Amino acid sequence: MSGFASWPEPVVRVQSLSESGMRAIPERYVKAPSERPSFTNETENHHKHVDIPVIDLTNLFGEDPTLHEETVRLIAVACKEWGFFQAVNHGVSHELMERTLEAWRHFFNMPLGFKQQYANTPTTYEGYGSRLGVQKGAILDWSDYFFLHYLPDSLRNQSKWPSQPSCCRELLSEYGAEVVKLGGRLLKAMSANLGLKEDYLQNAFGGEDIGACLRVNFYPKCPQPDLTLGLSSHSDPGGMTFLLPDHDVAGLQVRKNGKWITVKLVPSALIVNVGDQIEVLSNATYKSVEHRVIVNSVKDRVSLAFFYNPKSDLLIEPAKELVSEERPALYSPMTFDEYRLYIRTKGPCGKAQVESLGSI
Ligand code: OGA
Ligand code: NI
Repeated sequence: MSGFASWPEPVVRVQSLSESGMRAIPERYVKAPSERPSFTNETENHHKHVDIPVIDLTNLFGEDPTLHEETVRLIAVACKEWGFFQAVNHGVSHELMERTLEAWRHFFNMPLGFKQQYANTPTTYEGYGSRLGVQKGAILDWSDYFFLHYLPDSLRNQSKWPSQPSCCRELLSEYGAEVVKLGGRLLKAMSANLGLKEDYLQNAFGGEDIGACLRVNFYPKCPQPDLTLGLSSHSDPGGMTFLLPDHDVAGLQVRKNGKWITVKLVPSALIVNVGDQIEVLSNATYKSVEHRVIVNSVKDRVSLAFFYNPKSDLLIEPAKELVSEERPALYSPMTFDEYRLYIRTKGPCGKAQVESLGSI
């Protein structure tokens, strides 16, 4: 509901560019030198073995209170220091993860004519898209995507989800249900560690009436990966994100102390990150951290980003319990509907948006 009915320029599918065999990418994908990926930094982290924390969630679901508390503590430390972690033993079926990812790979490998029937517009963003933001003349990212609503039921419209491959809709329904369950467990852990009631964050998100949507990203291989990005630096505007990435192609980078760390994927992990709404509710105890995606010249990459969001018309503001004279509210209240207009208009802009809420 961004109010924009159409894209400012004709839509070009990045996958078509990639498949055309061109040796040089068009100028509108060439980033300013300061934004380009630096492959030297990446080598540096590699030597230092710096990476986002890996957390085993087995004991979050278990009975032992000491082990449970220790897991909650690890989650909180990760949310404070990194805004990101890789969850293993998270309860989402590995087979389901693999099959869902495979179904989407299949979708993106369908003929362009089939995918075009799902072409999206900036009004709701639902469907097959190739840009984020409606700024005319913007430098674009090297990716296509498919965006859809999972919750609430009133926005979920399976006829807007791909009809092919035929297993896609069913797999997605199942996968989403498991991820939503995991999201509820994590919100409890995050609330408890803030000293709030266990159901605080879930209630702030609207209880049962949360929002959830999915963006499936497709990053085609790129002849000049050093000049562009698959997805420019941004923080996720929503509550919390569950990323299921391609297992054999790296690409996600997380910003830590001004440096870009390339995430090394642990098999069967889901990458969890804090979005802007949780940063606001926690009054900046938990951090919504900038991340971006680099591309490569060898392999296409697919990822599923499942966004677990607050009900879109609720006011989101720092929890009163976390506001005091010494630590005033760092953000002004806003609904998620209003909040997400920004990225839908301007495209990815690092942390500019959440920082703009701080001017109260
Ligand atoms: C996103 C995102 C990362 C990736 O969709 O918001 O950050 O690796 N995706 O695709
Ligand atoms: Ni993101």
